[in-house]
Amino acid sequence: MRVLVTGAAGYIGSVTARLLLSRGHEIEILDDLSTGHRGALPSGIVWHHGRLQDRNLLEKIFARPFDAVLHFAAFSLVAESMVDPLRYYRNNVAGTLQLIERVVAGGARRVVFSSSAAVYGEPAAVPIREDAPLQPVNTYGRTKLAMEWALADAARTAGFAAVALRYFNAAGADGDLGEDHRPETHLVPRLLRSLLDPSEEFAVFGNDYPTPDGTCIRDYIHVSDLAEAHLLALLWAEEPGFTALNLGTERGHSVQEIVTVAARITGQALSPPVRGRRTGDPARLVASSEQARRLLGWQPRRSDLESLLADAWRWHRTHPRGYTA
Ligand code: UFG
Repeated sequence: MRVLVTGAAGYIGSVTARLLLSRGHEIEILDDLSTGHRGALPSGIVWHHGRLQDRNLLEKIFARPFDAVLHFAAFSLVAESMVDPLRYYRNNVAGTLQLIERVVAGGARRVVFSSSAAVYGEPAAVPIREDAPLQPVNTYGRTKLAMEWALADAARTAGFAAVALRYFNAAGADGDLGEDHRPETHLVPRLLRSLLDPSEEFAVFGNDYPTPDGTCIRDYIHVSDLAEAHLLALLWAEEPGFTALNLGTERGHSVQEIVTVAARITGQALSPPVRGRRTGDPARLVASSEQARRLLGWQPRRSDLESLLADAWRWHRTHPRGYTA
């Protein structure tokens, strides 16, 4: 297929772009490098260095239509989204609307969109199914939900196929592609980086949650498994309409478990300090991924904690300063 990948310089976008290329698809990339890294882009492909909000650029890119669009490009830091919400709406929502307009104008028949477990907010029950109430508790989650709604309405009226993939906690690395957000807020990279650079303090945010060991439980999913799900969704998305699918392992792991397995894998003693709770952290987020398994035939393969942390550790050790380009 001929596929436009937005945000291919980012963490999940880069791994998926490379997987698409390895399976013989033809891709073009749209990325402004505002949060991604040049070093994560595949070489030898068409890269449009620009923004989703640039209507003229989008018209130029879509002059030759695509079979599909994989839309990763977005700001994704929860805390930042609460401090500067309009920046998030402008980039995530307004930018996505421009992209959808090009799709509606005949630019592609299939769209796979990076959504998030953040659309659920504080869940009433776990594992979380796709039909659970959508009550995001932060701006980031609200922008993702707004984009899902826009896609659903446009897919219905214009007759293209749209799949929103609601990621739970992406982690791990794929070869020389890894996780490098600036600032970094995520558990796994913060923990591993603190082992390589003692000036980067790592702390556990709260051990008084109603969970067996008191620390928060999340559903960690290997970035390679996420990439595979995108490919399957791309091939599956034939019928016009909108479908939202959770991507997780259906197994929850506590922060303390991650610390324990990381200590084993890195061979380092780890007893991080415990700080207060981080605002807005639900105690437990675990996906029901039954739909993705059933509809896509998707099966996570590298998301056990050992593989996930070993891959992440290898990447951080070989990239102690993250991407340098
Ligand atoms: N944590 C720590 N110390 C740290 C960083 C994180 O203890 O230095 C804890 C958090 O408090 C939380 C767990 O580790 O309990 C996971 O935190 P992350 O920041 O890695 O991930 P979140 O679950 O907060 O966020 C993820 C995605 C978001 C998405 C959200 C959906 O990264 O994009 O899930 O709820 F919005």
